[in-house]
Amino acid sequence: MAFTSQSQLSLLYSKTAPNATIMNSPDVSAPELRDEILRLVAQYHKVAHAPKPFIPGQTKVPYAGRVYDDEELRLGVDSILQFWLTAGPFANQFEKDMRTYFDSKAAYLVNSGSSANLLMIATLLSPQIENGLRSGDEVITPAVTFPTTLTPLVQNGLIPVFVDCQPGVYDIDVAQVEAAIGPKTRAIFVPHTVGIPCDLDALTAIAAKHNLWLLEDGCDALGSTWDGKLVGTFGAMSSISFYPAHHMTLGEGGMVIVNQAGVRKTCLSVRDWGRDCWCETGVSDTCGKRFDWQLGGLPHGYDHKYIYSNLGYNLKVSEMQAAIGCAQFKKLPAFIAARRANAAFYFERLKAHAEHIVLPTIPAKANPSWFCFPITLKSHIKRRAFIAFLEEARIETRLVFAGNVLKQPGFENIPRRVHGELTGTDTIMNQTLFIGVYPGQTAEMRSYVADKIDEFFKTKI
Ligand SMILES: Cc1ncc(COP(=O)(O)O)c(C=O)c1O
Repeated sequence: MAFTSQSQLSLLYSKTAPNATIMNSPDVSAPELRDEILRLVAQYHKVAHAPKPFIPGQTKVPYAGRVYDDEELRLGVDSILQFWLTAGPFANQFEKDMRTYFDSKAAYLVNSGSSANLLMIATLLSPQIENGLRSGDEVITPAVTFPTTLTPLVQNGLIPVFVDCQPGVYDIDVAQVEAAIGPKTRAIFVPHTVGIPCDLDALTAIAAKHNLWLLEDGCDALGSTWDGKLVGTFGAMSSISFYPAHHMTLGEGGMVIVNQAGVRKTCLSVRDWGRDCWCETGVSDTCGKRFDWQLGGLPHGYDHKYIYSNLGYNLKVSEMQAAIGCAQFKKLPAFIAARRANAAFYFERLKAHAEHIVLPTIPAKANPSWFCFPITLKSHIKRRAFIAFLEEARIETRLVFAGNVLKQPGFENIPRRVHGELTGTDTIMNQTLFIGVYPGQTAEMRSYVADKIDEFFKTKI
């Protein structure tokens, strides 16, 4: 039974009644079997995925992880029973949910946050885009970054212009952005690193004044707001990651949020092989003139499904991933609230160590939806010793991504321009780490983490 309508899709959200005898009935129907399978999946989840007790010092305190209940498993299995496989009704539903959440022009599901970044850049490079980017153009971006925020620029012949970042803030130093603009600068591409929003008043004003594209990498910041407005809605486009470390997960997955109507159609085309046709999977002739187009040098009437107006990719997800996304989306407000509560706890507990650490700085208009809790150790504290102490106590830590990305082996020799000194960036590379705030971190776990940090500063320095 393949579902085709919204009402059929919504049926999947309701829990099914137990039916122990159904499996033995010779006349059992497919919907009855499906209900029974989904009931068993819920039961399986209860048994196989039951929470384990936290044993301080033995149980790992992860920096991040998947948080889910039986609904993710049921919708995932249901998508397999439907066997649609490629992005279909669940993907449409999830895109619609996210479009509504962001109040955006479009939300395009892709297979990773990295692909979302690539898609945004490739879209702006299309000749279809008025005033778009061309190889050799400069893009202002911070030196503390995630590698695949930067990679699509380099791969597409754009020249990154690196600006410094400061410990505590971690985002691009907005005070330096305007001075970094040169005659070839055409765009600003900024991650909201660790979930702390960049100063979007300043960036939108600079972009408007100098006629620059503003792109946001919102992969760390789903739910963060600036002046009450969601981060990811300020630039022409923004990206999201659904990798398990992020605010909600599809396993692998990402999304481009499109805020500017002029790039919407091209963005979809570049995601979907570069084709001109915008039919959903399994649908034909949405335009009503499938065999009546004349584009490029092709003969009139060439099948619109096979007309390619852009250099594209196939960046789509599977229907199973989208089904899991539908279940995760409903939990998003609770996920964001839990991340904020955990971060607030660490602010409160760690302020006692202000002589040894730099706590995050939250701009007045920002309300972060934290990816993690970043800590910069002052220069008298050895980061390796601090990390070794925490990891020994089974507390996971990570560094702020690539650190100074220009020191990374794969990026040392990329074409670039560097604006000013990258001293704050180097401090972040050398002295910053982060601990988790993800919703799976319980009150018991976070107290244990804070106690261990207290112990380090009491006994190890
Ligand atoms: C800021 C930022 N951008 C992009 C990505 C890439 O996302 P993905 O892992 O889904 O490719 C990440 C991943 O952690 C990230 O933190």
